[in-house]
Amino acid sequence: MPRLSDTEDAGDVLIAGGGLAGLFTALKLAPLRVTVLAAAPIGNGASSAWAQGGIAAAVHEGDRAEDHAADTIAAGAGLVDEATAHLLAREAPARIADLLQLGVPFDRDLEGKLAVGLEAAHGRARIVHVRGDMAGKAIMEALIAAVRAAPSIRIIENAEAYELISEGARITGLHALVAGRPVTFRAPATVLATGGAGALYAVTTNPAESRGQGLAIAARAGALIADPEFVQFHPTAIDAEKDPAPLVTEALRGAGAKLVDAGGARFVDELLPRDQVARAIAARTQKGEKVFLDARDAVGTKFPHAFPTVYANCMKLDIDPVRAPIPVAPAAHYHMGGVAADENGRSSLEGLWACGEVASTGAHGANRLASNSLLEAVVFGARVAADIMNASLPQVSASAPAPELTDAQMLDADALLALRRAMSA
Ligand code: SIN
Repeated sequence: MPRLSDTEDAGDVLIAGGGLAGLFTALKLAPLRVTVLAAAPIGNGASSAWAQGGIAAAVHEGDRAEDHAADTIAAGAGLVDEATAHLLAREAPARIADLLQLGVPFDRDLEGKLAVGLEAAHGRARIVHVRGDMAGKAIMEALIAAVRAAPSIRIIENAEAYELISEGARITGLHALVAGRPVTFRAPATVLATGGAGALYAVTTNPAESRGQGLAIAARAGALIADPEFVQFHPTAIDAEKDPAPLVTEALRGAGAKLVDAGGARFVDELLPRDQVARAIAARTQKGEKVFLDARDAVGTKFPHAFPTVYANCMKLDIDPVRAPIPVAPAAHYHMGGVAADENGRSSLEGLWACGEVASTGAHGANRLASNSLLEAVVFGARVAADIMNASLPQVSASAPAPELTDAQMLDADALLALRRAMSA
């Protein structure tokens, strides 16, 4: 990559975030000129690539978007914005079609139709997967290839946003550390797609990059933040003191795996909404008891082929899930709260949009339904792109020197560890 100037023209749209939401938005914006800032080398550092579950969508015969929306609303603890949940479910099949067109190899049944799996709190099987538990990785590979081939998109890796730029009432870009050096990026439209905040907790399934930076810079610029306390804990991460904690996909419980105590007794309905299952497990682990996910009868010898990611993660920790139950504990997984965004991803600040996990649209209420997260990224990514393409974008002035980072923006390793422990406690 050529050396960047201190101030860079980011084109028509600047996107902070190289996960699914950021890349999908960038592709949908073509032919507008887009700069994408990725906090790590692209494909790393984004939760999207780690997603095991898949994408929920009413694509199977007999399923209806209304039923998907009803399950989303029922899971959300009475706090879902119902219109937004309906919109999410209604637009899901079209976004699956987009991903197929981008070459995502979703699993198919013997008749060649999309195969669908069951996950907790869904009234029926409606999750599309790739090679069992590899949806996130496969989707990201397809998107990375597409953005690398798109002449309208420039990707800048190792670039972490640390401050938004305001010009009057409008956001006109941001300052980022690019490989440790401050660089100013100017654009008439800025999109935050920086992901969640799980790595602010001691036990999380999220990559270390998910520290809520997008939320923080939006809050500092005065954007409205919605429901920041709505943090989802996934019931089943492998309990092996590994950071991040490897996820054990919900699809295993969908396939019949059972949650048991140290004596092998079941203690909860495995297919209840995620918050209820996580609380039932936490009630035991907080007393020092061990909890296990037992897939020996339901999955057995099919495990390595059906769930290759979970299998590999278990084997690395000397746990053979074909022969032994997997020790599990809840882990911070997903942030339903975030930058308040309307149905087109507009934040409360002019010129600033947000989509994916950093945004809070109300679609998930206080508890996201399984496999609605990759879905949210593509549905709202497409809506943000359409909204920006319909907007009239102003000129932005050329320079805005990058400010020094403050202490609050530079958390050292000891302070971060103390914070993560306090958050988990
Ligand atoms: C999982 O596979 O259990 C995680 C999927 C999700 O977070 O929706």
